[in-house]
Amino acid sequence: MRPRRPRARAARIVHTVAAARAACETWRERGERIAFVPTMGAIHEGHSSLVRRARSGSDRVVASVFVNPIQFGPREDYRRYPRPRARDRALLSAAGADLVWEPREDDLYPAGERTRVRVTGLDSVLEGASRPGHFEGVATVVLKMLLVVRPQVLWLGQKDAQQARLIERMVADLLLPVVVRRAATVREPDGLARSSRNAYLGREERRQAVALARGLESARALLERGVRSSAPLARAIRSAWRGFPRVREDYVAVVDARTLEPVRRVRGRVLVAVAARLGRTRLIDNFEWEPR
Ligand code: PAJ
Repeated sequence: MRPRRPRARAARIVHTVAAARAACETWRERGERIAFVPTMGAIHEGHSSLVRRARSGSDRVVASVFVNPIQFGPREDYRRYPRPRARDRALLSAAGADLVWEPREDDLYPAGERTRVRVTGLDSVLEGASRPGHFEGVATVVLKMLLVVRPQVLWLGQKDAQQARLIERMVADLLLPVVVRRAATVREPDGLARSSRNAYLGREERRQAVALARGLESARALLERGVRSSAPLARAIRSAWRGFPRVREDYVAVVDARTLEPVRRVRGRVLVAVAARLGRTRLIDNFEWEPR
């Protein structure tokens, strides 16, 4: 691994595909190793941790900030998604980004565009079941960005485990020359996974949002104690949620971490994933576990 190079300068900001491509091309020609961290902005410690991880193994870190319209459903929060642009730039710079790419919508999606990328099967379960078309939007934008930046390493968060799995699958299926790495979920002191959407929570909702992490902790405790069937894991999560009446379940799932297919017994690596609504806000969380 190359030594960490402290960064004093602010990241360069680019908007167009041409400018992002040119900057990355120059670095590649010099033999520099590029890591890429795609985001939708509203940068928090979860994103910053990805940039820092990316920094430590590469010469250059490119971060993108783009609220991707095609991954939002018609009744979702595309319009009200937070866009604190100056703050995002400052936080990404501070974490060590060399380049912040803020694509323009009409540049990424040129007039008349028709192409979409689907990772079949993985895109229709869990989040995909509640958010039709969401992962098609994610896969499409991530592939476009990978083709512009052409990084050696792509950094994703475990927070969005299904997204990470789907992109890993896409990268393998399309033979893309990029290594996909995942960084651990960054949490608030009470355990709530950091998310740009936490900002939507009212006071009481925020208090009760801890239920997601609590439920997952009780499922993990059962696994550690040797429980191997999925039903009691799901029951433990739901029973932990009973003390939090604002939490409305969307799903509680125990699935194979690779295929995302439900498992009745834990034999290999599993993903325990939950989604719930608090008021109008939809939150997700998960952990992966495998028997030793
Ligand atoms: P966004 O939600 O902004 O997340 C950007 C990256 O940060 C994702 O890889 C996500 O998993 C990671 N992340 C978010 N919260 C995290 C946390 N608490 N701990 C660790 N990592 C965290 O995910 C997207 O944007 C979009 O779908 C995108 C991939 C950019 C495509 O539009």
